[in-house]
Amino acid sequence: METHRLVRPKDLNQYGHLFGGRLLAWVDEDSWIAASFDFPGSRFVTMAMDEVVFRHSVKEGTILTIKSELVKLGRTSVTYEVRVLDEQAQDDNLIFTTRVTFVKVDESGRKAPIKKMNFGMQELLVVFMANIPDLISGNLLGPLAKSLAIHFVTLGF
Ligand SMILES: CC(C)(COP(=O)(O)OP(=O)(O)OC[C@H]1O[C@@H](n2cnc3c(N)ncnc32)[C@H](O)[C@@H]1OP(=O)(O)O)[C@@H](O)C(=O)NCCC(=O)NCCS
Repeated sequence: METHRLVRPKDLNQYGHLFGGRLLAWVDEDSWIAASFDFPGSRFVTMAMDEVVFRHSVKEGTILTIKSELVKLGRTSVTYEVRVLDEQAQDDNLIFTTRVTFVKVDESGRKAPIKKMNFGMQELLVVFMANIPDLISGNLLGPLAKSLAIHFVTLGF
């Protein structure tokens, strides 16, 4: 999933650059939204944020792109790799990286298993629809191989 944030004056630190804590909050929220879209009906809490790396300072008015990509699916947890970019920067536009892990909990806050099959079918459907042009043109093997690869990787086979 990809989201965008505009850096405003209220987001700046005492040196006039983006406050790191604000960026962490955006990363936490946006990857949580990605998990909630990927696993509808699940209640997620943040379990861990791996090494956080702030590669560049960010000035007011920057439009940030936050990319959250599912990289691991466990029994009760999901992990997203998050990259923050300034896509209008001329050269090195990668600003920040981390991995965020969420755990599914029930209404009492106890960890709960994630329904993997739902996700597998949903992913297959998304990949299938994205490849409809290939299917129409008769290239059946590419989309099928891609669907199976994603299915196996996300389910940990
Ligand atoms: C979420 C919570 C219920 C999990 O209970 P727990 O008994 O601590 O959970 P576990 O140690 O069994 O770990 C649960 C999952 O998280 C994973 N996990 C645990 N520590 C982790 C870490 N440091 N990094 C990545 N994953 C981790 C485990 O591997 C497990 O995944 P799996 O089931 O997919 O294999 C509990 O830790 C909690 O309530 N934490 C507070 C959450 C919160 O308030 N977040 C907001 C912070 S402000």
